[in-house]
Amino acid sequence: MRERSLEVIEVSKSFPTAQGRLQVLDGVSFSQARGEVLSIVGASGSGKTTLLRIVAGLDTPDDGVLRLNGREIDGPGPERSLIFQQFGLMPWLSVVENVLFGLAPSGLSKTEQADRAKDAIGRVGLQGFEDFHPKALSGGMQQRVGIARALAVGPRLLLCDEPFASVDAMTRQTMQTDLLNIVTREGVTVLLVTHDIEEALFLGDRVVVFSSRPARVIEEIDVEIPKPREHSVRTSTGFQEQRAMVWELLQATA
Ligand SMILES: Nc1ncnc2c1ncn2[C@@H]1O[C@H](COP(=O)(O)OP(=O)(O)O)[C@@H](O)[C@H]1O
Ligand SMILES: [Mg+2]
Repeated sequence: MRERSLEVIEVSKSFPTAQGRLQVLDGVSFSQARGEVLSIVGASGSGKTTLLRIVAGLDTPDDGVLRLNGREIDGPGPERSLIFQQFGLMPWLSVVENVLFGLAPSGLSKTEQADRAKDAIGRVGLQGFEDFHPKALSGGMQQRVGIARALAVGPRLLLCDEPFASVDAMTRQTMQTDLLNIVTREGVTVLLVTHDIEEALFLGDRVVVFSSRPARVIEEIDVEIPKPREHSVRTSTGFQEQRAMVWELLQATA
């Protein structure tokens, strides 16, 4: 058994609403090995973002425990990096300034921050683009700036909340391949939430299937597609079968 990274144990969460409390997570449990890419797939409104915010330490559960590398999560920390929808880039800052922005709270010296930023930009293949502004880059390159910013802090866990939800289908597939190549090469542990079954399977070593709200774990699936994964695996029989199976599971809980 590989070393444990994230452990989520019986996590429940509800929110107060005008109609009383809205139960969003109901005893969610799963764990993740170091270096694993784990996808959580669930319908819109099932509670995926709520879970990710709790893992990030931006919100607290009503019940349950979360640990990262054996330490209880009780707030935000630099060992967890979030990649936002639309990559969260500041349009008025250059590539290197956007990456440095993520390092600002680190307490590292200016020289160390500059070294780390340069290194992260190189690791996502953007050397030479340091002084470009986001709007001068393609969507795929903007995504890589977002990844570089997240990697620069040296996270133990990379959290992705539907990172490709707002891009067109073809760009999305290219970006998925790109993200997968980078995180595979870097050996980063990734927790990704999405409503997109194909995305969950293409990126994940394992897929956790959420029920509709309140979210419970209804299935955990090993994705038996070797890495590196080419775009063409999407049309393979094994992939199509797993996709159909997850679809059935999600239908049954809708
Ligand atoms: N702070 C909040 N207060 C009240 N309701 C919330 C809050 N955050 C999320 N919700 C509700 O919780 C449910 C799950 O939301 P969310 O976790 O964003 O789902 P998903 O990311 O799977 O689409 C939704 O019905 C949403 O309206
Ligand atoms: Mg969401």
